[in-house]
Amino acid sequence: MSLYQICYRSRIKPDVLSQDPEDAIAQTTHRLRRMNALNGVTGALIFTDTHVFQLIEGQAERATASLECAVADPRHERHEDVEILSRKAAEYRLFHDSWLYFADLRMDHGRELPSQLAMIMPRPETATAADVLALMAYIAGDLAEAHLTNRILQI
Ligand SMILES: Cc1cc2nc3c(=O)[nH]c(=O)nc-3n(C[C@H](O)[C@H](O)[C@H](O)COP(=O)(O)O)c2cc1C
Repeated sequence: MSLYQICYRSRIKPDVLSQDPEDAIAQTTHRLRRMNALNGVTGALIFTDTHVFQLIEGQAERATASLECAVADPRHERHEDVEILSRKAAEYRLFHDSWLYFADLRMDHGRELPSQLAMIMPRPETATAADVLALMAYIAGDLAEAHLTNRILQI
C-alpha cells in the first residue's frame, strides 16, 4: 500500500491562537488522534505565533481525507489560504508512532531549535516546503530520541 505525505501551512484565527493552543486544540486533539488512529494516519501539528504547519502521513486516500477534514475546520482564518507546501509519496513515516504530535513553537514558549530552523519562526509565512519538512524531520528525530532515552532509563 502506498504511503503518502502531505504538508500544509495555514493561518489559524487569532482568537484560537491567543488562548492556550494546547487547550484550544485539546478539546479536539483527543478526537483527532482517535480519528487518525482509525484511519491509520500519523503526523504532527506545529503552532507558531501566527501560523500552523501540519504533516499528514498515511495511505493516499486516507491522508487526503484527513487533509479535507482539517481544511474544512472553521478555525482556519480562510480556507482558501490553506497552502499545500508538499504532497508526495513517501517511503516511511516520520511520526510513525504519533497519531498527531503537537509542538508549540510560539516564540515565548522557549523550545530550543537549531539556529537554521529557529530562523523560520519569526516569519513562518515565508518558510519554504524544504524548511518546514526539515523542521518536521528535526522534531520527529527529537521525539524518537526522547522515546529511546525513556526506554533506556525505563521511565
Ligand atoms: C489545525 C487543525 C488540524 C486538524 N487536523 C485534522 C486531522 O489530522 N485529521 C482529521 O480528521 N481532522 C483534522 N482537523 C479537523 C477537525 O478535527 C474536525 O473539523 C473535527 O471534526 C472538529 O471537531 P470539534 O468540532 O469537536 O472540534 C483539523 C482541524 C484543525 C483546525
